[in-house]
Amino acid sequence: MELRIRRMQPEDLPAVMEIEKVAFTNPWSVEMVKKELTQDWSTVLLIEEHGAGLWRLRGFSIFWLVQDEQHVLNVATDPAQRRRGLGRRVMEATLEAGRAHRCRISTLEVRRGNVAATEMYRRLGFRPVGMRPNYYADDREDAVVMVYDFAQAAAQATNPA
Ligand SMILES: CC(C)(COP(=O)(O)OP(=O)(O)OC[C@H]1O[C@@H](n2cnc3c(N)ncnc32)[C@H](O)[C@@H]1OP(=O)(O)O)[C@@H](O)C(=O)NCCC(=O)NCCS
Repeated sequence: MELRIRRMQPEDLPAVMEIEKVAFTNPWSVEMVKKELTQDWSTVLLIEEHGAGLWRLRGFSIFWLVQDEQHVLNVATDPAQRRRGLGRRVMEATLEAGRAHRCRISTLEVRRGNVAATEMYRRLGFRPVGMRPNYYADDREDAVVMVYDFAQAAAQATNPA
């Protein structure tokens, strides 16, 4: 498959919202996604696939780079295109951006019951470090806090145990 990863532009908003709305029970609003395009600490990365002469949006990640920390706020792929490695690819590019910014850690919250996302993050090298009880306003599900340590990951890559 032919893939590309690039930063979101304002004209990508309808395609991003299409995925956002079907991927989450409590999706971000258009205004929330739009706002991310105006903050200089925020990045929205898109993963697109080429086919029949067109680039189609398959997923995205939204993250902040603040000082030496990356915070991942939102990740989703098109439900019709899951388990094809696309979530992993956009998250690898997300971590690459954190590494390039010389971040120490990348952090995120994930719903306790979200097996797919938790497993993807775990396989990328994120580790659970704590719990935020009743974190999600809609149904009060707990959030698991996960952290990726860039120095530890680099050490493991050069010296796998
Ligand atoms: C989480 C999500 C982004 C994964 O996207 P994806 O494109 O299916 O991910 P990948 O195909 O790259 O999968 C990477 C790995 O994650 C794990 N994984 C993905 N879906 C899984 C599932 N349903 N059950 C168990 N593990 C799963 C697997 O380890 C997988 O590797 P494998 O296919 O080689 O076994 C996608 O399921 C999604 O958009 N979910 C809804 C939105 C969401 O919950 N976002 C996260 C918010 S914190």
